[in-house]
Amino acid sequence: MRILVTGGAGYIGSHTVRHLLKHGHTVSVYDNLSRGHSAAVNASILTQGDLLDSARLDHVMATNQIEAVIHFAAFAQVGESTKNPEIYYRNNVVGTISLIEAMKRNKITKMVFSSTCATYGIPTVVPIVEETPQKPINPYGKTKLMVEWILKDMCASHKWSCASLRYFNAAGASPDGDIGEDHSPETHLIPLAIAAAIGKSKPLEIFGNDYPTPDGTCIRDYIHVDDLANAHRLALEKAIPGEHLCLNLGTGKGSSVHEILDAVREVTGHAVPFSIGPRREGDPPALVASSKKAQLRLGWEASHKNIRDIIATAWRWHQSHPDGYKKG
Ligand SMILES: NC(=O)c1ccc[n+]([C@@H]2O[C@H](COP(=O)([O-])OP(=O)(O)OC[C@H]3O[C@@H](n4cnc5c(N)ncnc54)[C@H](O)[C@@H]3O)[C@@H](O)[C@H]2O)c1
Repeated sequence: MRILVTGGAGYIGSHTVRHLLKHGHTVSVYDNLSRGHSAAVNASILTQGDLLDSARLDHVMATNQIEAVIHFAAFAQVGESTKNPEIYYRNNVVGTISLIEAMKRNKITKMVFSSTCATYGIPTVVPIVEETPQKPINPYGKTKLMVEWILKDMCASHKWSCASLRYFNAAGASPDGDIGEDHSPETHLIPLAIAAAIGKSKPLEIFGNDYPTPDGTCIRDYIHVDDLANAHRLALEKAIPGEHLCLNLGTGKGSSVHEILDAVREVTGHAVPFSIGPRREGDPPALVASSKKAQLRLGWEASHKNIRDIIATAWRWHQSHPDGYKKG
């Protein structure tokens, strides 16, 4: 298939691009590089452009005869979305409408969309199934749920085939250490813990240790970025006209913050210095996915299930690129 990957110079996008190429697809990347890295993808397939630039989208879709879109491009920081919600609604919702309109003009009817467990808000029952009520508690999660609604309507009205993949916590890096996670500012636990372990940053602040979990810290489901990539390919290859397929993607196993810090120590050989801070508003005690539906519908399940193995890939990336994409 000839696939346009928006946000393909970002963390999950760049791993998915590699995966698609390995499986024989033809890939074009569309990214404004506001938060991505040109070094994460081959220059020959990258078009620098914004979701809101209709003419550029038309051009890239037409010249590459695009048949399907995987849509990663978005802003994805919860805290930032609470401070500046209007930026999030514009980029994530208006930007996606612009993309959808370009797809319609170019007669492209297949999309796989990056949704998130943040659409569930604070669930009362874990593991979380797809039928769990979606009640996002921050603007970021709301923008993603809005796009899910739009895609549902595109499927119903125009027989599009769309999949909204609700990822839990993306983690790890390409096992060969060539590409990995490089966000600025970094907000994800594993890269932050690695940086603290090797003395590159201040001690890690743990946001609350009085949650109703076995060690008092929050539990999250860490899913390897290559497993996410595989699910995107399968969702495209198995798309059904008229269907909006919603799937959770996780390992089904949660790790607490303390368990992550222990695993980082085992993998890197350095203890992670930490301090205990107050809880963050809106942090649920545990978010763990049930991915049974993804297994049933796509034949997909996570292949990286051991958190140490996932962290080992992040560590390898860090060792080969200590300053991210800037050097190395
Ligand atoms: N990282 C996670 O744990 C996680 C979890 C759930 C969902 N998601 C979703 O997955 C997607 C990818 O996440 P990521 O961690 O790889 O993020 P990322 O920031 O690394 O990648 C996003 C990419 O989109 C590009 N982009 C943003 N706005 C754009 C625009 N208007 N036009 C063109 N390009 C634009 C950025 O430059 C960047 O390269 C996001 O949609 C995010 O909401 C991520």
